Formats: sequence, structure tokens, C-alpha cells
Amino acid sequence: MNMATSPLDHVSPETNVFLVDVIHGLRQAQKTLPCKYLYDETGSRLFEKICELRDYYLTRTEAEIFSRYLSNMAEHIGQDALIIEPGAGNCEKVRPLLQQLDSPAGYIPTDISPEILLAARAEIEALLPTLSVQAAVGDFTQKAFWNSFDCPPASKRVIFFPGSTIGNFDPEQARALLAIFTSQLQPGDGLLIGTDLDKDSVILERAYHDSEHVTAAFNKNLLTRINSELQGNFDLSLFAHRAFYHSLRQRVEMHLVCLRSHDVTIAGERIHFREGETIHTENSHKYSLNGFRGLLEDTGFQTVTHWTDRECRYAIHYAQVA
Ligand code: TRP
Repeated sequence: MNMATSPLDHVSPETNVFLVDVIHGLRQAQKTLPCKYLYDETGSRLFEKICELRDYYLTRTEAEIFSRYLSNMAEHIGQDALIIEPGAGNCEKVRPLLQQLDSPAGYIPTDISPEILLAARAEIEALLPTLSVQAAVGDFTQKAFWNSFDCPPASKRVIFFPGSTIGNFDPEQARALLAIFTSQLQPGDGLLIGTDLDKDSVILERAYHDSEHVTAAFNKNLLTRINSELQGNFDLSLFAHRAFYHSLRQRVEMHLVCLRSHDVTIAGERIHFREGETIHTENSHKYSLNGFRGLLEDTGFQTVTHWTDRECRYAIHYAQVA
């Protein structure tokens, strides 16, 4: 597409990248949209609602593991550590950890959605007035982003990456992201990371196709965003949310299914949708304990330890750079 002839008026660099990514994704044989665009302000709020759903066991289970083993985790991390959280959102998960740690050197939450992040920073500062908190707005999958903020001195850096967010990356991308993490760390620095574990497909599918349809709204919000930010004309009633477990690929796939053949226009570009065709919007990879340990070791980490719930639905790993 020639951006010089784009019908959008004042195109910011971010809008331009969004538009290029959307058109590129929708021109593929299997239409796809990058999942990071799910998290605008509305998307982030819907995601917070997902985390509270009964069907979505991940957040609850992870929180149980944290509360149970928090002091043990804090011992592994030790004194005077700087905590960096990529994609921190509302910064809720880190709070108990920050309170438990022995004189943390600081906390750096990052997110692509500034509204939620800045509100969360104010709350953390009120809760822990002596802690140095520095919010960084940007895309943590871009290496250049990591050079855009300064880290205060600390005895060690620990990247905090809960929520099974690593599962939203394909194994190759996950490897690349973990390599970005190691590039920001020194030997002895740590990674505290949550992963959902492989399990019965009924439980997995219910978590991503909840009975209250919040996940459907979250998925469809991507189309609303394209409509409002990129002058799109998606008719939301012509798409349905679909989530299923692909056991061979060990992932839940999320799609938007087109219910009737029609055309959509985005910033003047026409895209055809066949009936039954899907837009692939998100993957959530599920790991075995050993499988994830292998990934950590391949990217320069040494697994120190992990914690799980009784039913072994979810795991939190603490790994150090070798
Ligand atoms: N990290 C979360 C997960 O994989 C993200 C997530 C939860 C999600 N529900 C979703 C992403 C629905 C897209 C659609 O579980």
C-alpha cells in the first residue's frame, strides 16, 4: 500500500505501523492480526475482566501459587533487586511481591497502553512511597525499547513476567523474546515467569470461550479498534469468536469467524472475506514443565526452581542467567 495516498488525514507513526500491520495480516491466505493490538485501553479493561472470570482459571491459580510461595520467591530474588515488568498492565500481580521483597532497588513497569500503566504507577507509589517506580511506555518485543529507559543501580535485575504472556508467542518468538531478556541481564540476574501447563482440552477451551462472552468481546474489540482508528467498516455482527485447543501445536487458538461472504474497507483498502474464513487473532501456548525448562536453558537461563498448584494446572519458574 502506498501510504502517501492513504485517505487517513493526520497519520501518526503508530497509526501508520498499525495500518501496515493490519493490511499485511489481512492479505495473508490465513488472515491474521498481531495480538498486541488487542490491548488498547478498552482491550486492557476487558482483559482485566477476563482475569476475574470463573472459567479463566489462570489468573486465580497463579495468584494462589504466588501467595503460597511468596516468601520463598523473595528469598531467591534476595536484597536490593530491581524488578522490571514487561507488559505490566494494571501492575496488580507484582504488588505482593514488591511488599515482600527485602529493600527492592526499584520497579520498572512497561506497557503499550499508557493510560492503564500511569494510573497503576500512581497506585504503587501510594502503596510503597519509598520505592523508586519508573513507568516505560513501549513495545517490549522491540529490542530498541529496552534502551529507551534507564535502570537505577541494583544488586541484581529480575524480570517479572507473569500471566502466561510468554504463551502468547510462538515457540520461535518466545525464544527470541527470552533472548532479549537475557541480553538485558547479567549472570546471576533473574527471571520470574508464569506459564500455563498443558492439560485437558475441555478446561482449556472453557478458559478462552467463557460463558459470559467477555473473551468474545475482547477478541472483537480488535475490529472496533480498526473501525475507529483506521477508518474501517467491519460489521461486528458478521463475525463470531472461536477458541479451540490444537493439541499437536500445544496451543489454544483464537479466531474471528466470518459468518457471511462480504467485503470490508480499511483506510480505503478493500478486503474480501469468505463465509467460514477466519482471522487468527491469538495463540496461547501451553507448556510441559520440562518443555519450558528446555526453552529457558536454550536461551541462557538456568532453571533454579519452579512452583505449581496442587492440580498442576499452572507453573511459576525462577531462572537465573548462567
Ligand atoms: N496471556 C493470556 C493467555 O494466554 C492472554 C489471554 C487470555 C488472551 N485470554 C485471552 C488473549 C483471550 C487473547 C484472547 O491466557
